[in-house]
Amino acid sequence: MAARKPLVMGNWKLNGSKAFTKELIAGLKAELSGVEGCDVAIAPPVMYLAEAETAIKGSQIALGSQNVDVNVQGAFTGDISTAMLKDFGAKYIIIGHSERRTYHKESDEFIAKKFAALKEAGLVPVLCIGESEAENEAGKTEEVCTRQIDAVINALGVEAFNGAVIAYEPIWAIGTGKSATPAQAQAVHAFIRGHIAAKSQAVADQVIIQYGGSVNDANAAELFTQPDIDGALVGGASLKAPAFAVIVKAAAKAKA
Ligand code: 13P
Repeated sequence: MAARKPLVMGNWKLNGSKAFTKELIAGLKAELSGVEGCDVAIAPPVMYLAEAETAIKGSQIALGSQNVDVNVQGAFTGDISTAMLKDFGAKYIIIGHSERRTYHKESDEFIAKKFAALKEAGLVPVLCIGESEAENEAGKTEEVCTRQIDAVINALGVEAFNGAVIAYEPIWAIGTGKSATPAQAQAVHAFIRGHIAAKSQAVADQVIIQYGGSVNDANAAELFTQPDIDGALVGGASLKAPAFAVIVKAAAKAKA
């Protein structure tokens, strides 16, 4: 099986300013200088992509976004296209985050359309999936993950996951300080990879499956010891350069 290079990505959510963007990236560049063996990306609010594009120059930090629209141009007030994200050098685009599924009522089918738009544009979809606390308690974790992944497979075929990223983010772990245990996360990641492998072993072997949900500098290393956890999608801890750098270094070390 081909070795997968881990990816640690920061999802800044609705946080930051021009000054904060410059300061945080300067801090990350200093902390991450010389670190190899882990891909690193940040998704600031799109408002700050211009500052971020300039600030990351000369570093290994890649740029991302927290959302994208399915349309490329035209009368779609308030939306941001794949072409616009590419214009700023963004590469990793988060779609299907539970906060957008919940607050903006985004459906599995709509998210699959975003996935298609990203593939069409040559961008990397970071597809967030994961169950709520109630679904978890009802034993529906695998059912929910299957439904969210199958929306993409049914629309585009399993090959669409070539070069793509899945972020397993149990909703009960997001922003709660209550991360899934390494064993809990590994079990779901192995299930997700197995589900894809049932359609294509080759696609399953290369797809990056990140864990997300209260990952921090104290719990990251243990999560990364798990064979199917290929990195992390980090919220709160990505807003502090030292904590985010510890997580990146932990991934690089665990997967070396
Ligand atoms: P936290 O790391 O703040 O729990 O957020 C996780 C997340 O939602 C990343 O997309």
